[in-house]
Amino acid sequence: MSEEKIIIFDTTLRDGEQAPGASLSITEKLEIAQQLAKLGVDVIEAGFPVSSPAQFEATRLVAEQVTGPVITGLARTNQEDIEAAGKAVAPAKRKRIHTFIATSPIHMKHKLKKTRTEVLKMAVEAVKYAKTFTDDVEFSPEDACRSELPFLIEVLTACIEAGATTLNIPDTVGYILPYEYGKLIENLKSNVPGIDKCIISTHCHNDLGMAVANSLAGVRNGARQVECAVNGMGERAGNAALEEIVMAIHTRPNFLILDDYTIRLTTNINTKEIHRTSQLVSQLTGFVIQPNKAVVGANAFAHEAGVHVDGVLKARATYEIMTPETIGLSGSTFVLGRHSGRHGFTDRCKQLGFKLTDTELEQAYQRFLEIADKKKEVFDEDLAAIINDEIHVVAEITYQLEHLRVVIDTDNTPTASVKIKTKDETTQAAACGDGPVDAAYEAIKDATGRSPKLEDYSIRAITSGKEALGEATVKISEKGRTYIGRGISTDIIEASARAYIDAINRMVSTQTKGEQPELKAEL
Ligand code: KIV
Ligand code: ZN
Repeated sequence: MSEEKIIIFDTTLRDGEQAPGASLSITEKLEIAQQLAKLGVDVIEAGFPVSSPAQFEATRLVAEQVTGPVITGLARTNQEDIEAAGKAVAPAKRKRIHTFIATSPIHMKHKLKKTRTEVLKMAVEAVKYAKTFTDDVEFSPEDACRSELPFLIEVLTACIEAGATTLNIPDTVGYILPYEYGKLIENLKSNVPGIDKCIISTHCHNDLGMAVANSLAGVRNGARQVECAVNGMGERAGNAALEEIVMAIHTRPNFLILDDYTIRLTTNINTKEIHRTSQLVSQLTGFVIQPNKAVVGANAFAHEAGVHVDGVLKARATYEIMTPETIGLSGSTFVLGRHSGRHGFTDRCKQLGFKLTDTELEQAYQRFLEIADKKKEVFDEDLAAIINDEIHVVAEITYQLEHLRVVIDTDNTPTASVKIKTKDETTQAAACGDGPVDAAYEAIKDATGRSPKLEDYSIRAITSGKEALGEATVKISEKGRTYIGRGISTDIIEASARAYIDAINRMVSTQTKGEQPELKAEL
């Protein structure tokens, strides 16, 4: 039995952040990168440095402060991009430049308006220039899966000669099927001279729901790096989900190599950090995880049908192919209450792995007391939600909910009044609406003087029971950009108001910093 390592390349902060509506502040990116290092990813793609000053700064800070993984920045094949990426990753102990250019006929003709000869030359020059910043250079022929094979082979061969050390094969538009992708990787492995000295990488998008299957088909045929994002975030339908890739390898390590069950695949991932990482990314991006999401969804380990419950109680393996503990869920029914006190609260936070400063701990404790007053039993999931809501808020809080009053009368229109605090003043407003949430939102608009369009609204219970903590998620938009906000409370109207204000704060923070990811549309 031999072991082979699969390199986990995380692109949550680059491709993941390109998901519409997912916009992270620099501090939030750094926090995610620290958690990714704890998770044990091998490579962090921290951003696309040339695209905006904020992207450059985020990549540079990650390179400076996050130790362990290789830090990479994305660059098109021009000198300005490569220079920005080179400078941004310079502080990292281990650094990589990831450069790309499209090689498919449709992209070359319509997007780049370049001939094959021009594209080939640009790819080679880019790799050579990137080598002047670091030895570790990755090249991606964008839209590789719709490129003509002979040209793909020609470009990859030339890039290897120019010094590329990793060759990434993106299914940019999520078009290919697992069998075809496997064949493509096998073909490249056999026909590109010198490819045996490079790492072949997968980068699959999920437009047809095949991203994970395609990535694993790539691995089965020789790829040894998988590019993926936490919770499957990314452009359109997203990227291959990191947690699914890792747990597939963890659960079926001997069955992923073509015709050879003696090779056991491994990763450097500490699977016990998967759940925490997934929650953090969801919280900071505002992207809710669907309950039936593989591995990290709320129902991923829930058994409802009588036959299943009976089976699991007799032997967990009857219906569980992985245990919740493997991904870092406690599996405990530990409960805190108002009388647990500061000590009990602090202890449980530590046991759950939260590292909070004294101020953060105090802040979270005060919110815990408020919630414990209304909800007698506070479960681990509630605690995590409280901490995330209190601590991982948008860096600049412009508006804070000080008071909310909503009156519902079955015979009359609901009314709401709010008090909103800013740095300098407290503003009050009242409004009526179609329903209690609508009334609260109208009042908030009036008090803040902001009137973004409400695009989406949802509410879910974090734990079960009538006293469950509710979590509201809203999506708002203004000037063509969307922003997501979340809020929790035992009262769903209050959770909704908090979520709306959180989204407005994210919008204001992005607008004041001018953190517009200008080049999103070009990728
Ligand atoms: O999907 C894609 O092709 C990309 C490249 C930049 C690697 O994200
Ligand atoms: Zn991509």
